[in-house]
Amino acid sequence: MLNNFDLCKLLDIKYPIIQGGMAWLGTNELVSAVSNAGGLGVIGSGDAPPDWLRDQIILTREKTDKPFAVNILLLSPFLKENLQIILDENVGIVTFGGGNPGTYIPALKEAGVKLLPVISSVALARRLERLGVDAIIAEGLESGGHVGDTTTMSLLPQVVNSVKVPVIAAGGIADGSGLVAALALGAHGIQMGTRFICSEECIAHPKFKEQIIQAQDRATIVTGGSMGHPVRCLESKFTKQFMALEKSGASQEEMENFGKGRLCSGVIQGNIDEGSLMAGQISGLIKDIKQVKAIIEDIMAEAEDIVGNLSNFKSKQ
Ligand SMILES: Cc1cc2nc3c(=O)[nH]c(=O)nc-3n(C[C@H](O)[C@H](O)[C@H](O)COP(=O)(O)O)c2cc1C
Repeated sequence: MLNNFDLCKLLDIKYPIIQGGMAWLGTNELVSAVSNAGGLGVIGSGDAPPDWLRDQIILTREKTDKPFAVNILLLSPFLKENLQIILDENVGIVTFGGGNPGTYIPALKEAGVKLLPVISSVALARRLERLGVDAIIAEGLESGGHVGDTTTMSLLPQVVNSVKVPVIAAGGIADGSGLVAALALGAHGIQMGTRFICSEECIAHPKFKEQIIQAQDRATIVTGGSMGHPVRCLESKFTKQFMALEKSGASQEEMENFGKGRLCSGVIQGNIDEGSLMAGQISGLIKDIKQVKAIIEDIMAEAEDIVGNLSNFKSKQ
């Protein structure tokens, strides 16, 4: 059995597998399923208002007595209110996405919340370690959603070499080989988003899940770079229109208006032409919809097999 002791002990989980906080999709159904299966479920608060977040925390607690986290998107219009909900509801673990959470760390640390920021550069990982975060999630550009500009393969070992806290690999992982690769590069665990979308428990629209299953290796594209917030999604009619708008030199406001409401439209309502279908490059590897428990247990079993086979590796015959 692969045992990633530090991270599992830190988070009080059985397997070193975190479900990435996903706006609209990280709801109590998926979060409780992941936590009950031995991973760490993460509520994706995205742009949602504080009442929604409080309800999700309550509903998750009704479905699991295992640890779970809340993801705070630093671009949220309800950032301060949602941080207050975390304190009011005694949430034990927070992950941050979409920027530098430095300002908010002292108050959360003082309240005893464990903090796991998602970063895409060594410099930010180091700065946040100095501020006292408990672990670092290093996310490569392969991932679905907001992305940086370095691949997981390159970013991860450099972050591992630069900080002492446990590092979790995110971006481009969907099976046991990805877990083993991440561990080999020095990670203590993995975070997956796209793989968990194709689970029975995720509330994503069946048409969106099907788009991921049909996707090939080059199915995704990054848009929004000119706005300073590049986002990876499945290529679609919407991304083509958005790219054309970006190229035409449209203002920030025009692009923001064009993109408004598109994520919900795509991933929840299943409008695959008009909506935004955030998903990672690993979509091409995902060929089925399974229960969360099977996803996690299959990954752990695959990883164990691979590690067993690798033990035959020798540099000299
Ligand atoms: C639909 C979708 C929504 C996401 N929303 C968020 C978010 O709100 N906050 C965040 O930190 N990361 C978000 N992410 C990133 C995931 O948490 C995770 O790090 C990423 O999906 C990992 O890469 P993978 O898709 O290759 O597994 C999102 C990803 C997807 C696919």
